[in-house]
Amino acid sequence: MQDQFTTTGIKATISDQELNRIEQLAAEITCPLPLPEEKKQQLVAEISDLLEQQDAVLVAHYYVDDDLQELALKTGGHVADSLEMARFGHDHPAQTLIVAGVRFMGETAKILNPEKRVLMVEDEATCSLDLSCPIDRFSEFCDANPDRKVVVYANTSAEIKARSDWVVTSGIALDIVRHLHQQGEKIIWAPDRHLGDYIQNETGADMLLWGGVCVVHDEYRSVELQQMMKQYPDAMVLVHPESPRSIIQLADVVGSTTGLINAVQQSDAKRFIVATDRGIFYKMRSVAGDKELLEAPTAGKGASCVSCGHCPWMAINTIQKLHDILKHGGKAIEIDSNIVEKAIIPIQRMLDFAHQREVDMKIRGDA
Ligand code: 13P
Ligand code: SF4
Repeated sequence: MQDQFTTTGIKATISDQELNRIEQLAAEITCPLPLPEEKKQQLVAEISDLLEQQDAVLVAHYYVDDDLQELALKTGGHVADSLEMARFGHDHPAQTLIVAGVRFMGETAKILNPEKRVLMVEDEATCSLDLSCPIDRFSEFCDANPDRKVVVYANTSAEIKARSDWVVTSGIALDIVRHLHQQGEKIIWAPDRHLGDYIQNETGADMLLWGGVCVVHDEYRSVELQQMMKQYPDAMVLVHPESPRSIIQLADVVGSTTGLINAVQQSDAKRFIVATDRGIFYKMRSVAGDKELLEAPTAGKGASCVSCGHCPWMAINTIQKLHDILKHGGKAIEIDSNIVEKAIIPIQRMLDFAHQREVDMKIRGDA
């Protein structure tokens, strides 16, 4: 791990050993090879029919492979950031939601739609942030700081969400913490320490941070990034806030996946260095095909899956697996109803806040 924190708000919530174990798990994943074109076309045709027959819709994250993103769009599904994925699943009439992404995205969809069948393209797809935050230890941490509002990133289990006051995604985290800070609230933040540190710096809020990291964004390297910036002085640097502080400090734009896509679309720049999962290039190219996109440098480029700028858990979502669960049945996500009842409250709070923010922006003429 690089950039160990010096922030006074940091508590030892997860050890380096545990973080290394999670990193190792990610490194052990073998990313699937691309399918031959003919096979792919055959699967796509069958999947399109099966989705329709089963009243199912595909909701994909910007980080999954191009084929799945393309298929979601082609079949009336949706490709989005984690906030929009939650909203789309909620609003769409289909009885089955199929989530191409990672586990917490499927769980959020299930919490918001307990009556629907929710399937993951890949059951094993998890997230290092989710893994870094077990419920028993997190509860102890919250119990030890009862005077604080508990704000958790969406990249957490249903149990963690149920223990929280607010769930946030990177698209709305700053606004929500700023709002709580203005109300005089002190905050527990979990699990991403880089995102927490960024929000703390931006808002001045009093935050106790959990120590988790994203195995992908934690791998960006500032020395190499600076070299790349010298090589491409005209490039705009776009950074997801799960990246370490040393990377965020070099950014022209810090934002959620949607924020970074908007930056590519709206900026006059012709070249971008992008510090987030390279799956996002599919959408960036579709909104600004004339612009050049460069991957920000990671540790030991290509040395292992954790250091290649592509989330290994997003990478194991494939067209073949989607086909197989539609054809042979997949394991629907089940969450204890007590947990659902509790977890829906902080998620709905976030969605209501997001809705109100949009209304306010429209009134101000910003939207
Ligand atoms: P977004 O909320 O920006 O989609 O990010 C989710 C994520 O897992 C980033 O690593
Ligand atoms: Fe989790 Fe990082 Fe993968 Fe996003 S990119 S799902 S934060 S491990």
